[in-house]
Amino acid sequence: MPILKGKDILHGNQFTKKDVETILKVASEFERELKKKDTLPLLKGKILATLFYEPSTRTRLSFEAAIQRLGGGAIGMGAVESSSVAKGETLVDTIRTVSQYADVIVLRHPRTGSAKEAAEATSIPVINAGDGAGQHPTQALLDVYTIRQELGTLKNLTISLVGDLKNGRTVHALVEVLSLFQSKLYFVSPDLLRMPEEITSNLRGKGVKIVETEDMMEAARASHLIYMTRIQKERFADLSEYEKVKGSFIIDQTFLEKLNKKVTILHPLPRVDEIHPDVDAYPGAAYFRQMRNGIFIRMALLAMIFGKR
Ligand code: NCD
Repeated sequence: MPILKGKDILHGNQFTKKDVETILKVASEFERELKKKDTLPLLKGKILATLFYEPSTRTRLSFEAAIQRLGGGAIGMGAVESSSVAKGETLVDTIRTVSQYADVIVLRHPRTGSAKEAAEATSIPVINAGDGAGQHPTQALLDVYTIRQELGTLKNLTISLVGDLKNGRTVHALVEVLSLFQSKLYFVSPDLLRMPEEITSNLRGKGVKIVETEDMMEAARASHLIYMTRIQKERFADLSEYEKVKGSFIIDQTFLEKLNKKVTILHPLPRVDEIHPDVDAYPGAAYFRQMRNGIFIRMALLAMIFGKR
């Protein structure tokens, strides 16, 4: 039974361990295939629509590239200012419209819950590419794909999630997926940006071991991997609060020398100042490989949604 056929992708908690393993398997098949050829025309004639109400580089372009590598096409509503959204059209009406032109919708929107709302307004699959401070499930999948690639396994890892755990949708989705693999998690953030209590207690209920701390060095010493995140400036109603926490956690040469052990570093990107460019040449710096993996995961998801895997 094709597990994602006709389905929406809305939340990191919608997958079973078996689902995740299947998605990663399909993604690695596509990664191998793309070494030999440019396209795998499984989705000829299928059209993907990107609806991005917030900025994006990697997520939108990798979805567009993914559908094209699969032989389909992409249409996009460019800047919100150039569409009927600027005339006051509701999200639901826009979704209904786009559903007439495309076979799958990829949505990024500033409101938490918007992807679910969109999915309820249409019969075609909706993929959540980030709903406010909510979820970003396709990023979580490419993150675990990268973790397995870098560390050889997903089981029994100790992982530090660092930065804006309150507003970061990538970490909100990632912890859901990691909870399937017996991970131990360090949540490293300023007090103001702690992981929402609801998420933490829900994970603890599932048996995930969690340590909350403001000490990145202590967490890094205990971890196989550090997942850095950007402080989500756009989510602050009061910019003076942002000023208090910006630059809270920075990985640079000095930090790595003090740490004095090899660690894998991921970041969903874009970065501001939380990883110094000097770190890019460090063998454990895997964030550019991680970003590249977005293509394979998104190809896998699209092929599976259309029942081709
Ligand atoms: C993230 C996002 O939009 O949530 N970017 C991404 O999709 N890779 C992370 C961020 O903006 O900080």
